[in-house]
Parts: sequence; C-alpha cells; structure tokens
Amino acid sequence: MSEDVVAQSVNVKNIGLRGVTVADTKISFIDGDNGILLYRGYRIEELVELSSFMEVAFLLLNGYLPKKKELEDFESALKDARDLPAFFVEILKKCPANADPMDMLQTGICLMAMFDPGPKEESRETHIRKSLRLIASIPAMIAAWHRIRQGLEPVPPDERLSHAANFLWQLHGSEPDEKTASVLDKCLILHAEHTFNASTFACRQVVSTQARLYAGVAASLGALSGRLHGGANSRVMEMLLALENEKDIDRWVTNELDHGRRIMGMGHAVYKTMDPRAGFLKQMAVELGVKTGMEKWRILSEKLEASSIREFRKRGKTDILPNVDFYSAPVYFMMGIPPDLMTPVFAMSRIVGWCAHIIEEKFAEAQEKPALYRPKAEYVGQYFGLTGCRYESLVKKEEKLSGS
Ligand SMILES: CC(C)(COP(=O)(O)OP(=O)(O)OC[C@H]1O[C@@H](n2cnc3c(N)ncnc32)[C@H](O)[C@@H]1OP(=O)(O)O)[C@@H](O)C(=O)NCCC(=O)NCCS
Repeated sequence: MSEDVVAQSVNVKNIGLRGVTVADTKISFIDGDNGILLYRGYRIEELVELSSFMEVAFLLLNGYLPKKKELEDFESALKDARDLPAFFVEILKKCPANADPMDMLQTGICLMAMFDPGPKEESRETHIRKSLRLIASIPAMIAAWHRIRQGLEPVPPDERLSHAANFLWQLHGSEPDEKTASVLDKCLILHAEHTFNASTFACRQVVSTQARLYAGVAASLGALSGRLHGGANSRVMEMLLALENEKDIDRWVTNELDHGRRIMGMGHAVYKTMDPRAGFLKQMAVELGVKTGMEKWRILSEKLEASSIREFRKRGKTDILPNVDFYSAPVYFMMGIPPDLMTPVFAMSRIVGWCAHIIEEKFAEAQEKPALYRPKAEYVGQYFGLTGCRYESLVKKEEKLSGS
C-alpha cells in the first residue's frame, strides 16, 4: 500500500462517517447547504407537485420516468402483489398485540423471504419482482397488523384504489376521501429516498456480502426503527401528545435541552438549512388541520418549532431546523395513523429507495464492479501479548492458587 493511501485511510477516521464518501450512486443527490434533493436527477419539489408515488417508485427502481403503458403495467403488478399470504395473517394473529410494529415488519420481511417463489434467483429482473412484492406487501402488513391487534379481521385490498388510498382503506376499513389519499401519496414521494442515510447504508452494506434482498431490507428496517432515524416521527407525535395541555412551551423546551434531551424531528445530519421535504409537510399539516378540524396539532407543532429554534439559537446552534419527521407526525395523526405506525409508514415509502440501492449495489450500476464493504477501525485497546503480559488459563491460575 502506498504511503498516500495509508495517510488517507488514517484521515478517514470519523465517528458517524459524517462527510465520508463511501460509494458512488446514481439514485439521488443531496446538497445539504442549499436544501436541494434530487431523485434520479429530478427535483423533489417537481416530483411532489406533479408526479405520483407509483411514478416515483418506477423512476427510482428503473432509473427513468415510465411511459404510460409501463406505468400501467407497474401499477397493475403492484396491485396483483397486494394480497398477503394466508399463513402470514395466521402468524400475526398469534403475535402479542402490544408487539412493536417495527418488530412485526422485520419479522414479516423474513417470512416473505421464506415463502418467496424463487428465493435464490439473483437476476436483476428477479430483484425487481421481489421489490414489487415488498412495496405491495409492506402496507398490507401494517394494515393487517393494526386490525388484528385491535381484535378485528384484516380488510382485503381494493383494486380500484391507488396505493395510498388502498392502504388507508385496509387500515381503517373505510375509503379515504380524495384529498387525504393525495396527501398520503405526496408523503410517500417525500420519504421514498435519501441517499446514504443509516437504513440505506445498512442494506447496501448487507447486500455487498452478496446476501439476498430480503436480508438487506430486514437490516434497513432495524436501522430505521431507531429514534435518531425513522423512529423520530413516532417520538414527535408522543411529544406533541404530551404537550397537548402544556401552557409554557418555551419553558418545556429549555428544560429538555438543559437536561441534555433532544427535540425530536429537529436537526439533520446533512441539511444545514431547511430540509426541503419539511416545508411540504408543514403545508400539508395546514391543509389537513383545516379539513379535519384538528388544527390544534398544527398550531402546537408550529409553536414547538418556533420555540426550539429560538432556544437552539440562544445556545449558538443556528442550523437545527425541522426535518422530514417533524411535520409528518401531525400529518399522519390527522389521517388517523396512530403514533407507533408512523415509522412503519415511513418504511412503506422508503422500501422503494432501499430496493433501488440494493439493486445498484448488487449489480454495480454506479461503479466498476461489486465490492464488499470492509472499513477499518483503529484499535485503541491494550496489547497484552506485545507488552510482555501473557495469557494464563483459568486452570493454571487455580493450580497456582491451590499450590499444586
Ligand atoms: C438527526 C441528528 C442525529 C443529526 O445530528 P448531527 O447534526 O449529525 O449531529 P449531532 O447528533 O452530533 O448533534 C450536533 C449537536 O447538536 C445538538 N442537536 C442536534 N439535534 C438536536 C435536537 N433535535 N435536539 C437537541 N439537540 C440537538 C446535539 O446535541 C449536538 O450538541 P453538542 O455539540 O453540544 O453535543 C440530530 O439532529 C437529532 O438527534 N435529531 C433528533 C432526532 C431526529 O429528528 N431524527 C430524524 C432525522 S431525519
């Protein structure tokens, strides 16, 4: 190894890998200083205003915008994959009703792996088939789980309905109005992809070992569940519910920060300006607040946002602003989605990004050839052997002690 490479690899040591480029990707781009997010070269603002989740899913997986017929075929393949296998529902019925929905989802992915018709098929086409199977079945799993844990029967899918509308139908057992379904569709677009975030890096790292797609997705779900990542939206809603009757939000925020606690939904590892997704979600909170008569959650969120920003600034932190999870919490709540299902709903969208990255990683679509991730760590422990101390077995030590 040349001296240059050695010097570089020493410099790379960086807790949390902030600012370290570990791979190339053609899937998305973020400019954190200027609040820019692109999916396959298209600005998120245009996609959310003009496109649909189905179109964005096609774009992310295939790398180009679909023609009309391609989009129809894609949507129809997803509709065909919506039904959950009967065994799956039977297993859910045996799970404890208070199980964490993210654990249920992770288990669900492994079950789907075991019952895949061609689990060992490794072509790009099979990866697309498996991706569609998961994009279609994750919402079905979430909805079925929510019904079953309330002692209700799962609702069968309705093929007349869009991906977002069908999810709300299967979750609540009543058809959503057009506005609510359209807001959810836009939320799914906003959450679908975000470069090398923790859960995406997790699946890329797992499949770089040539592990299968389902193994990568199960790893991603584990990473997403954490409160510093996708788990934040559930925590934001818990925080808002706890603050429902709080008169002095400023005092509450100061107290949280004084005790070293984090305000969930605020701050981002990459964006140092407004997260471009957060502005859309804030606007959706305004619209749904008016529509549902639940404006108090939007008002409370805005008070908390303003109070947190003021307090962060007093402490010299000018770049901690709402992220995608902050306003998605009141938006989902106003759609009747309970707090503990908010992270699973995030997964129901991000599954598209994960699958796109798994395919890119496995088929080396942005680099010369597939490569196993194998970073280095600097050993900062002790060197017993090298410093003269030697390993002594327990038996020997005991023999010494007993004098034998
Ligand atoms: C997402 C997050 C981990 C990114 O953090 P980061 O900018 O990469 O860096 P750090 O976690 O090291 O935070 C930097 C500093 O800002 C503070 N900070 C960042 N976000 C904060 C928050 N939401 N509340 C309170 N303090 C926060 C940290 O405590 C740290 O302070 P210190 O330097 O005095 O120790 C962080 O903003 C956070 O924990 N947010 C809340 C959880 C969340 O919403 N996650 C979803 C992200 S999309």
